[in-house]
Amino acid sequence: EALAGKKVRTIEGISTNGGLHPLQQALIDRGAIQCGFCIPGMVMSGVALLGRNPDPSVNQIKEALRLNLCRCGGYLKIIEAVQLAAQAIAGKRTPVPRPSYGGRLVGVSVPDKEAEEKVRGQLTFADDMYLEGMLYGKVLWAVHPHAEVLSIDTTGAEAMPGVACVLTAKDVPGRKGFGMMVPNQPVLCDTRVRFLGDGLALVFAESVEEAEAAVAAIRVEYRPLEVVGSPQQGMRPEAPRLHEEGNIARHVLRNVGDIERGLREADVVVEGDFTTPFVEHAYLEPETGLGVPAPEGRVAVCCPTQMPFENRAQIAASLALAEDQVRVVSTPLGGGFGGKIDITTQIWVAMGAL
Ligand code: FES
Repeated sequence: EALAGKKVRTIEGISTNGGLHPLQQALIDRGAIQCGFCIPGMVMSGVALLGRNPDPSVNQIKEALRLNLCRCGGYLKIIEAVQLAAQAIAGKRTPVPRPSYGGRLVGVSVPDKEAEEKVRGQLTFADDMYLEGMLYGKVLWAVHPHAEVLSIDTTGAEAMPGVACVLTAKDVPGRKGFGMMVPNQPVLCDTRVRFLGDGLALVFAESVEEAEAAVAAIRVEYRPLEVVGSPQQGMRPEAPRLHEEGNIARHVLRNVGDIERGLREADVVVEGDFTTPFVEHAYLEPETGLGVPAPEGRVAVCCPTQMPFENRAQIAASLALAEDQVRVVSTPLGGGFGGKIDITTQIWVAMGAL
C-alpha cells in the first residue's frame, strides 16, 4: 500500500540496453571494488544521489552513503567514483576505455576480475546459492554462556511440518570437536555449553520458517555454571575448568635472534606486560554454507572460506570420512580478513546434506 503509485527501481533497472550505469563504470575504473559485498548498496545510494543532485560535494556524497558500510574500507575510492560518475553524466568526462593488457600484468592497474558482476549485484555469494529442493538449516544456539546441559528433547521439533531431520551431538559420527589449534570446540554440544555461540541442535526443513519454528520447539534443560568472562579470569587458578586439558589453549613463545646477548648488550632494557585490543573482523557477509550430497557417501561443501583444504580436513574428521570424500568449494568472500579461516557452518551443512 505504501508503494502504491510509486516507482521501485532496483539495480537491474538503473541502466539501459544492458550497459553499465556511469557510476558502475566509475567504480570499476577507480578500482573502488574489493570484496564487493557492499557495492550494490553503494551503487543504489549513489545513483539515487546523482538523480536528485547531479553535482554533489564530497560532504553530500558522504551524507548520501552514510548508511552503507564498507568493511573493506574502500570509502575514498567509492566517493571519488561518485564524483567521476557525476562528471561523466554531465558530459565533462568520457569514460576511459578498458585498457588492453596484451598479457602484461606487472606495472598496470588490472581491474578486479569479478568487478562487473559485483557492480551489477550478480556475484553469487554462498547465501545466494540455490538448488531445487534444497533444505534450509537453522541452529539452536546456547542461551547461557556457561551451563551444564541436562537434557535435549527434539521429539516435538521432529514432528513439525516440513522438518526433514533434527541433528544433535550424537549424530556427529567422527571427531566431536573442531578447531585448528586444539580441536575441542564441540561441533554440537551435548553435556555443556561454554559460550553463546555454541550450537546444540540443527534443524533441516523445507523452508526457513519451518526450520525456525522447529528450532523453537526443541526443549533444553540447563544448569547454569559460573561464567568465565575474560581470558584473564580464565587464567586464574580458581577459575572454573572449561576443558579437561585446562583453560589455556596455547602458549606461543616467539624468540628471534640471540636474546641473552641482545639483553646483555642493550643500552636500555624495558620490561612490561603489554596487551593488544581485541579486533573483530566484522566482515559484512553472514556465515553460511551449502552442503551437497554426492555419490557413495561423499559430500561437497560450498562456503566462503579462506582455507578450503583446512576446512576439508576438519569436515572429514568430524564426519569420519576420508579427505578425498569431501570437497570444499570456496565461494566469493564478502570480506574475510583472516576471520574465515576456521569452521563455522561447514560441518553442519555437510551433516545435513548426508
Ligand atoms: Fe565494501 Fe568489501 S568492498 S565491504
